[in-house]
Amino acid sequence: MLTTLAVSHYRSINKLVIPLGRLNVVTGPNGSGKSNLYKALRLLAETAQGGVVAALAREGGLSSTFWAGPEQISRRMLSGEVEVQMTAPGAAKRLRLGFAGEDFSYAISLGLPEPLPYPTAFSLDPEIKRECIWAGPLFRPASLLVDRAGPMVRCRAGREWEVVNQHTASFDSLFHQVGNLRSSPEILSLRERIRGWRFYDHFRTDAEAPARRPQLGTRTPVLHHDGRDLAAALQTIIEVGMVEDLNAAISDAFPGASLQVRAVQGSNFTLEFRQEGLLRPLSAAELSDGTLRYLLLMAALLTPRPPSMMVLNEPETSLHPDLLPALARLIIRAAEHSQVWVVSHAEKLIEVLEEQGDCTPIRLEKVMGQTQLVGQRMLDEPAWHWPT
Ligand SMILES: Nc1ncnc2c1ncn2[C@@H]1O[C@H](COP(=O)(O)OP(=O)(O)O)[C@@H](O)[C@H]1O
Ligand SMILES: [Mg+2]
Repeated sequence: MLTTLAVSHYRSINKLVIPLGRLNVVTGPNGSGKSNLYKALRLLAETAQGGVVAALAREGGLSSTFWAGPEQISRRMLSGEVEVQMTAPGAAKRLRLGFAGEDFSYAISLGLPEPLPYPTAFSLDPEIKRECIWAGPLFRPASLLVDRAGPMVRCRAGREWEVVNQHTASFDSLFHQVGNLRSSPEILSLRERIRGWRFYDHFRTDAEAPARRPQLGTRTPVLHHDGRDLAAALQTIIEVGMVEDLNAAISDAFPGASLQVRAVQGSNFTLEFRQEGLLRPLSAAELSDGTLRYLLLMAALLTPRPPSMMVLNEPETSLHPDLLPALARLIIRAAEHSQVWVVSHAEKLIEVLEEQGDCTPIRLEKVMGQTQLVGQRMLDEPAWHWPT
């Protein structure tokens, strides 16, 4: 489980240090930075997949993802006495992402490349400047286990430091060093954990959506992020012995309804959803957007292979408000096995989640263009030091 997330200089987030719990509910008005926080988490996940630089480039490169305001906002800037200005114009800008875990913690910093002596078409590619893995939640030089500075990666070996690579490419994360036999086990362990993070962001439910078409069915403990293997994922939940949980989740949302998975044309799987008042079951192609989306979220949340972290971005989209309490109960159940994040606007969903004792509300607001936690003062911030 992550205990703290820290983001700096990323879009509307100049500096944010957030304490986390098992069930984290991110809320706030439009433009407060909810999606930016979600994207920051995705970027962190990309580091372990080897795609952080490409992901940043897809977002428009560092020049557009860097926080566009000043490093620090003074009281006089807030009251309008002086104009908002860069406070440290000479300092190198860094986009920083990091988290504290119960055993290891990690931080990465990215910046613009140094000018090269030879021509390159990639002069806007961000570079990984620094990455660190340390023991415990708080960075201290003495607790550092793996240290990457520019092209050099060092691991602690007893009291000594061992250089594992002096020529790491500026776009490769230290998680790339896993193949290196001498590299530290912390790299592998952290990489596997981050790779397991699961993101679900707006399932498609239009007429052409992958979830509406029959699909070749194989055992599927993890629903694909576009929902293409919905029928196989539901059948897997049934066959691993979770049929009662599944039926309970269906009756919670659709009293009197039931669900079956059928193989059609050989091994293609399709859904049959029986609802009260209908003479024949409906297939996935015929379900309403809201019903299909609920079934997708249900398959994601009832996964027989819970991840260390699951992130749902605005799961309420196109769900009927009556379905939200049932969805909230599914989310609360999933948080027993995974750390869960929910980014949401839907009051009814938020209300039921927050009634839960174990819920950590993350209420965002924008002050002078900066995303902040509502009511967080300096003293409430979890302790966090960026590696220097
Ligand atoms: N590089 C940037 N610097 C500062 N603010 C930014 C930057 N990029 C986007 N923003 C701001 O972030 C806000 C969008 O935040 P977003 O996370 O999409 O909000 P929401 O809470 O609605 O999901 C916009 O108001 C935009 O002005
Ligand atoms: Mg948004």
